Amino acid sequence: MKSFGQKPWVLPQPVLIIGTYNSDGTPNAMNAAWGGQWDAKEIMICMGSHATTENLARCNEFTVAFATKETMVASDFVGIVSAKNDPDKIQKTGWTAVKSENVNAPVFTDFPMTLECRILRKIDETEAGYNIIAEIINILVDENYLAEDGKPDIEKMQLITYEPVRHGYHIIDKRVGNAFSDGKNLKG
Ligand SMILES: Cc1cc2nc3c(=O)[nH]c(=O)nc-3n(C[C@H](O)[C@H](O)[C@H](O)COP(=O)(O)O)c2cc1C
Repeated sequence: MKSFGQKPWVLPQPVLIIGTYNSDGTPNAMNAAWGGQWDAKEIMICMGSHATTENLARCNEFTVAFATKETMVASDFVGIVSAKNDPDKIQKTGWTAVKSENVNAPVFTDFPMTLECRILRKIDETEAGYNIIAEIINILVDENYLAEDGKPDIEKMQLITYEPVRHGYHIIDKRVGNAFSDGKNLKG
């Protein structure tokens, strides 16, 4: 085994698109890979110092969309350009923003699945940012991405994951097993 020391290489990492409103009411979005499920109804996100961070200081509600192969280029764009420097940031993505019915944040309808979230607490707050713990108020899924049983069909979504070793985006592809089930084959 080769050692690589301390790296932010937890695999796989999500490509979360955080939606907020700027002070002038226009929608903003940023890319976040450092986040995940925190508790059954909560999400955590490591938030640096961005326009989004300022938006969250004014309003503690936001949306989280899961990036797809189709939205990949614009999803990367919102991760390398700040609304602080480019007022046309969202216009350049070509995404459509509608107001969430449950939180004061934009829903980008170009994504198959979106979480509507409200901040519960901020942990380890410094000038460089903080870790957000937020309640998942509701989950929206575009009907085109539902399976026959009415649940989200993840394979249809063509979600992407961030690969931090070489900074790649990879597609989440075929189902290969059944969780909490296939392992039973090894039970005595
Ligand atoms: C692949 C990728 C992952 C990122 N992950 C995070 C993250 O987890 N937390 C964070 O604060 N910024 C992250 N960023 C950086 C922000 O998305 C970026 O600074 C963005 O331009 C902020 O936009 P804003 O200033 O308009 O809010 C990531 C960027 C990329 C491209």
